[in-house]
Amino acid sequence: MNIPYFRLSSCEQELANVQEVLESGWLTTGKWAQKLESLFAEHCGTKHALAVNSCTAALHLGIEALGIGPGDKVIVPSLTFTASAEVIRYVGADPIFVDIDKDTLLMDPRVVAEAIRRTEGIKAVVAVHFGGQSVELDGEEGLIAVCKEYGVRLLQDAAHAFPAQDTYGPVGSVGDITCFSFYANKTITSGEGGMLVTNDDDIARRVKMMRLHGIDRDVWDRFSGNKASSWVYDVKAPGFKYNMPDLNAAVAVAQFVKAEAFREARQAIAERYNQAFGGLSGVQLVKWRVPVSRHSHHLFPIVLGKNSKICREEFIEKLSQCGIGTSVHYRPLHHMSYYREKYSLDAEKFPNTESYWNGCVSLPVYPAMSDDNVDRVVSEVSRLLT
Ligand SMILES: Cc1ncc(COP(=O)(O)O)c(C=O)c1O
Repeated sequence: MNIPYFRLSSCEQELANVQEVLESGWLTTGKWAQKLESLFAEHCGTKHALAVNSCTAALHLGIEALGIGPGDKVIVPSLTFTASAEVIRYVGADPIFVDIDKDTLLMDPRVVAEAIRRTEGIKAVVAVHFGGQSVELDGEEGLIAVCKEYGVRLLQDAAHAFPAQDTYGPVGSVGDITCFSFYANKTITSGEGGMLVTNDDDIARRVKMMRLHGIDRDVWDRFSGNKASSWVYDVKAPGFKYNMPDLNAAVAVAQFVKAEAFREARQAIAERYNQAFGGLSGVQLVKWRVPVSRHSHHLFPIVLGKNSKICREEFIEKLSQCGIGTSVHYRPLHHMSYYREKYSLDAEKFPNTESYWNGCVSLPVYPAMSDDNVDRVVSEVSRLLT
């Protein structure tokens, strides 16, 4: 593949930071994780930011801290990665899957309100900022108002949405809890990693304890500064092993500094694609409900409709033959055998997700793409679809 679906940008500062960590001798959670937490808390304007080893861990800790448990129900879109829903099962609760808006691919607060009215026992909503643009949160009909009206908690899956914004401010600045991902091909990466932000002191206290075995003191607090009492700790609950090592945090800190420059580079590519593919017949582009500069542009999906010149499978194959990588985000959860069988899910209940899924292909969009790379994608895609 000479234009793979994703390629990392050069990493001089990341290497220097990792070298510093290795030379310091402190590899697990420590001052680099704390530094990353301060950067996120400042960016999101939240009281707390807690670094963990994946977004899945952050979502799990978030659901747990909200007190969701067996018998509870949590609304989640079917169009997402399985992590958004599996964490609901981790705590013994049940996902209630909803369809997306056909133009933006986002959860629609009106559809959520209807699902809450229809279903007894909804305790929370997992809102997925799919592709990198925010779900409609503020305003009279926004998701925050809906959650408030029905007394339902709001957990945001912002795995795609750093550093995105909306009229309310940066993604992560409102709602009960927001979780970010630093997985290998995300908008910033630490290989594996995640962050949970919240303004709620009780949630933060619980997450802080549960991310490290339910121990009431973190390891940096115990062992930094030669404290004689480093061996003293209590286990308050059977917690998890979700802390972020400093090796990963050091990479994430270097990436954080470049996050806006990365976003702008992706924006330029996304704008170019939008202009080039907007007029192609049989092709649907995703509507941006936020201005272009507030979108993180993590994904650039196009949808090949019924009257497209070529079917999705052949399109992917032909692009691959000319060295261009693509991906598909995602096979909806109502198609996955575990969820489909356990909850007797019927594809007819998800018409918008279905029509997206039948033709969706994600094109490469990352800062390491050269102008020539972008030109090639534009010309090959146009050639195949014209
Ligand atoms: C929407 C969404 N949520 C959650 C995750 C999980 O992120 P992580 O790999 O950091 O656990 C992903 C990862 O692809 C994702 O796309």
